[in-house]
Amino acid sequence: MAGLRLAVLISGQGSNLQALIDATQRAGFGAEIVIVISNQPNAYGLGRARKAGLSTKLIEHRAFASRDAFDDAIDGALRDARVDLVCLAGFMRVLGDAFVERWRDRLINIHPSLLPAFKGLDVHARVLAAGARISGCTVHYVRPEVDAGPIIVQAAVPVLPDDTVDALQARVHRVEHVIYPLAVELIAKGRVRIEGDLVRLSGVTTEDARLISPARPS
Ligand code: GRF
Repeated sequence: MAGLRLAVLISGQGSNLQALIDATQRAGFGAEIVIVISNQPNAYGLGRARKAGLSTKLIEHRAFASRDAFDDAIDGALRDARVDLVCLAGFMRVLGDAFVERWRDRLINIHPSLLPAFKGLDVHARVLAAGARISGCTVHYVRPEVDAGPIIVQAAVPVLPDDTVDALQARVHRVEHVIYPLAVELIAKGRVRIEGDLVRLSGVTTEDARLISPARPS
């Protein structure tokens, strides 16, 4: 289907990529994935992309002398594919400031916490260590500061008394797979406006609001 031309950048499992693939196959979604880029040759998500018949590209950071050269290779692949919106989905390389500025407001990320809390790595272990009662995930526009940028959609999940990192991660993942496609759909439908550091959503219905803040994970 036509619409907004998406690139999805991955390094690993690609379960969010899968959620986006499934969403783009729904009629009226308003976006299509035109390229999947991985910096890891053995990323499981590359297989998901190939199975869905998507075009894939491996751009290994190790093959480049500098971060700028790596970023330029990614930029070139995105331009060649005439990408409108870049979705980072478990992409484990930090992109340089120049790249982020070049793709400003066309580059989004999903992070497994309720930002601005718990930026960075090992989020679920730190959430448990902090004794937080609620966690969740965030889809946001990317800015040069890591895990910062205008928030598009968030979803909350409870942290349960006997949670392990794996259990909490699985619960957060389930809602990631709901909100990443939702954020892309909102952008594709022109319902997302960036005002300074904030996103304003237009036409959000009660049903959307339930998805944005699920009462309970199923
Ligand atoms: C997700 O938890 C996402 O929030 C984080 O990296 C993980 C990627 O998981 N940025 P997957 O590769 O999409 O399964």
